[in-house]
Amino acid sequence: MSRVMVLNGPNLGRLGSREPDVYGDQDLSALRVLLVEEAGEGVEVDLRQTDDEAELVHWLHEAVDERTPVILNPAAFTHYSYALRDAAALVTKAGIPLVEVHISNPHAREEFRHRSVISGIASGVIAGFGFDSYVLALEAVRRLG
Ligand code: DQA
Repeated sequence: MSRVMVLNGPNLGRLGSREPDVYGDQDLSALRVLLVEEAGEGVEVDLRQTDDEAELVHWLHEAVDERTPVILNPAAFTHYSYALRDAAALVTKAGIPLVEVHISNPHAREEFRHRSVISGIASGVIAGFGFDSYVLALEAVRRLG
């Protein structure tokens, strides 16, 4: 693996100030620094965030076309976006790893967060470990080759 896409959905651009009791007080640039460090020299970390469902879908198409593994935090889209699920299925059905991650543990929160429409087609799911969810996902993607 020479590159990994780390894709983040809506409102995750507000990390640092958004509900710090739930998501911590570090922002996406701190996450980027952490992952670049964890990835080491041979792996490029391509971390992006958007509030736009269509943009996220297009990034997943890009992952398929370039055969790039994906770490995906779909944020609120997790719970209802069939468009995102179908795009994520394109990735895993092409044999490319896609790990769903969450900073919080959605199962310990409101009921609407208990359902993920993405998990059923993801290679695996890691949730509840803060930014370490992404670090663990990076290791999972590495092991999946
Ligand atoms: C989240 C959990 C989602 O329920 C929520 O909508 C988010 C963030 C997480 O990382 O814990 O925006 O995906």
